[in-house]
Parts: sequence; structure tokens; C-alpha cells
Amino acid sequence: MVAMVEETSHRVAFGIDIGGSGIKGAPVDLTTGEFAADRRRVPTPEKSTPPAVATVLAELVDSFDLPADCPVGVAFPAPMDRGVVRFIANLDKSWKGVDLPALVHDATGRAVRAVNDADAAGVGEHRYGAARGTDGVVLVVTLGTGIGSALLVDGVLVPNTELGHLEIDGHDAEHRAAESARERHDLSWEKWAKRLQRYFETVEMLLSPDLIVVGGGVSKQHKKFLPLLDLRAPIVPATLLNRAGIVGAAALAADAG
Ligand code: BGC
Repeated sequence: MVAMVEETSHRVAFGIDIGGSGIKGAPVDLTTGEFAADRRRVPTPEKSTPPAVATVLAELVDSFDLPADCPVGVAFPAPMDRGVVRFIANLDKSWKGVDLPALVHDATGRAVRAVNDADAAGVGEHRYGAARGTDGVVLVVTLGTGIGSALLVDGVLVPNTELGHLEIDGHDAEHRAAESARERHDLSWEKWAKRLQRYFETVEMLLSPDLIVVGGGVSKQHKKFLPLLDLRAPIVPATLLNRAGIVGAAALAADAG
């Protein structure tokens, strides 16, 4: 069924967030940062190769009745060098070197901008959410299959920071402290919070953020772990929760014109 997007005077862009378990998309009203129609989620294909994911993206975009000139923003779980995937931790390894905007343009016929998923979430939170209008050094960390990071300085994004792959105590940080590690090892909130404490105190020592925003699906349950952390900077849940990637990607796609 095709979901109708109401005609409004606001600018709308379509945002997609590609994750290890699900691909989510929605049209975003860029005046408010709200979804202009209900978000849809499709499971990530088990073999998450570029052609398999491109097919899912085209179906997702086509299931909405979007204006012909509506741009598409894609949030992708890898560092992006002007849209080209530099390395990939949590999807099929054949993504390395793929030009994502070209792939999605070929599949949808639309103008496409692709950015790192945490960078998209960071922009979403800075424009519409928990870090709205905050100057200084803002760090947005997403906890999911991996750990994503976005660094904004006076509202300007420093892209591709990849702080989930810091080596801490001899481990790739996301292997110990991502939400997937909590689930994989069935950790209590207290045990997971100890790992998060070690992670955030290391990042804080390196970057001295003025504000830390925590996103990803688990941020819905922030009351269970954020109060257990002891840091110098205020640490707050993302207000867009796991919508931030979709919203930020849509906003960046619209910026690209
Ligand atoms: C990737 C990052 C991504 C993060 C969250 C990491 O494994 O290297 O690019 O932002 O996961 O998806």
C-alpha cells in the first residue's frame, strides 16, 4: 500500500537509516523535524550486499507517495568518503569502496546524499533534539549493533570520527560496550554501565565535550543506565531517540539541494 504524504508548504525530504538488523525510512518535515508520514521498517537482508540492500531501499522509497523532486538522505553504518564506503564493520564486507549515492540514485532515480549514521543522528539532534542550539563541543554517541559517534563544534560537524573503534584496554570499544554486547553477553544494566563508564571516561579525557548525547534504540531505556555513569560533562538521552538518523539524513539531503 502506498502511504500518502500530505501536501504542506514545508519542505520534505526522505530519510533512510540502514542498520545491522533493520532498514527504516520516513519522509521528514524539515521545518519541525517530525515525520510527515509513519516510519516504515524492513528487516536488513540476511546477506546484506549492496544489490540486496538497494532493492529494499527502492521498495521502501516507492511505498511512499513522494513529490518527484523529494531528495533522499541515507544514514549508513560506516565512515563515508564523499559517499564512498571506507570500511564496514557490521554489514557485508563487499560494501567497501561502494559509491552509495550512485547506487541509491540508480535504484530510485532520486537525488541522494549518503552520510555516516551517527553523523546523521548528530545533525538531527543538533537541529531538532537534545543538542539544539548548543555551542561548544557536542558529542553524540549511538549505542546499537556498533557504537557510532558524531562530533559537532559550534554546530559544525567533524565527520567520520569513528570513536566506536577506539582501542580501550586492548579491545575494540564497540565489541565491549555496544548495546549488542549487552545483549550478546546478557549483561545486567549495572555490568553494562561499568563498560560504558570506561568508554565514556576515555572519550571525555580525549575530547572534553561540553555535552554528551546518547542515541540508538536503547536510549529509550536511558533511566536504567545513564544515572549509573559518573562523568564531568552532562550526559543526556537523545530526544529523537532512534529517529535521529532518519531526520538528520533527510536534513543533510535537503541541504545538498
Ligand atoms: C561503524 C560506524 C557506525 C557505527 C554505528 C561502527 O561499527 O564503523 O561507522 O557509525 O558502527 O552504526
